[in-house]
Amino acid sequence: MRKVQLTETVLRDAQQSLMATRLPYADYEGTLSDMDKAGYYSIECWGGATFDSCLRYLGEDPWERLRNLRKNLPNSKLQMLLRGQNLLGYKHYHDDVVEKFIELSIKNGIDVIRIFDALNDFRNIKTALEATQKYATENTIASGCISYTQSPVHTVDKYIEMCKELKTMGFQTICLKDMAGTMSPYEAEHLIKGIKDAIGDMTLILHTHCTTGMAYMTITKAIESGIDVIDCATSCFSGGTSQPSTETMYYALKQYGIETGLDEDIINKVNDYFKPIKQKYVDNGQLNPKSLATDAQALVYKVPGGMLSNMIANLTDMHAMDKFDAALAEIPKVRADMGYPPLVTPLSQMVGNQAVTNVLVGERYKNISKEIKNYIKGEYGIAPAPISEELIEKVLGADGKPVDCRDEDVKRTGEDFTAAKEALGDLARSEEDIMSYICYPDQTVKFLKDRKAKEENEAVYTIEEI
Ligand code: CO
Repeated sequence: MRKVQLTETVLRDAQQSLMATRLPYADYEGTLSDMDKAGYYSIECWGGATFDSCLRYLGEDPWERLRNLRKNLPNSKLQMLLRGQNLLGYKHYHDDVVEKFIELSIKNGIDVIRIFDALNDFRNIKTALEATQKYATENTIASGCISYTQSPVHTVDKYIEMCKELKTMGFQTICLKDMAGTMSPYEAEHLIKGIKDAIGDMTLILHTHCTTGMAYMTITKAIESGIDVIDCATSCFSGGTSQPSTETMYYALKQYGIETGLDEDIINKVNDYFKPIKQKYVDNGQLNPKSLATDAQALVYKVPGGMLSNMIANLTDMHAMDKFDAALAEIPKVRADMGYPPLVTPLSQMVGNQAVTNVLVGERYKNISKEIKNYIKGEYGIAPAPISEELIEKVLGADGKPVDCRDEDVKRTGEDFTAAKEALGDLARSEEDIMSYICYPDQTVKFLKDRKAKEENEAVYTIEEI
């Protein structure tokens, strides 16, 4: 019997997409023992924006959250999303930082590390892969991930070549990450059949979002075309900018005669658990029902839903919503000038902001953001297609030299750790604290100070009690 397995995303991408990653650990601890018995391929529960959100908004230690997840999900594969050389942040970290981060992630409980680079420049995921292999346990899986997008240079053949490269590099599974939810059923069929022919029995995973309304059709075609694993979210946290529903796909797959390994009663029980939690965040406004709607605009402009809502917010702030259509039409032009980068964090924000600036200033590239300048210099990696000559000349000058994002500088060792230890002093108690600081210095200092103050208060209280 053929098998298609499901990854459950409610603890990471679903809540990140629907409610800006504000779900605290305490809200879902009560369902973890059930989730552990559901039979998912894996549970995506860490990485992405969860790390930042823990420190910045929730007053949680992300590493402690991971250890708690590990303790309460002893039989499940715990999965994280990692932005290659960017880890969970927005800049390129040094190789020794990347290696230590992965060592600690595995040590604290992660099994599946899904690694991607926004530009699909695989030099930026090599260090993370090698570190995963170095610290792997028998349960560790290094999953190579492709940022999916459409452009004249992103052909089926190109994607097949990328998958072959990921296989040669030593990844154990491959994931197609359609962050904007723009992959059509037609594209899924040609892509997945082509990739499966090229990579043999290696596990192929599809990650998509319901944003544009395409996901269920696309996933169905993917199943018919040989996909092995699909990403889904428990139904009350599915749809809109999130993933397709777990229970719905279970039901559909069952009729196909395809084994999922899921326990029907348990996946329903998990959903029942999350229903009032979802309602709580709808009621307090943190889960905007707008994010549950279908928005097909992204199909025309090839931009993720979140990017459009950002643009609307920015233009509204500047009382310039009358420029919205012009800014929207400018996005594909900026993207073409930049060599068709996939519009995923951080490039989606960078391209969106530049398009708005071009329209508001009334002259294209009169002002160029620092981030775009760094991109054009080559700091993010190699663009999928050549960058426009005009832009290169504007940024680098007539004889300026591009930089190599993999030059000697990224291999420096020790400096970040020494600086972090000095900055934190006795606030840091573990390598994990130091790593949090390297990734998010301001938030970590605040978090560690709060932790210390809280403990001192508790200590005083205990003495008085005695
Ligand atoms: Co996603």
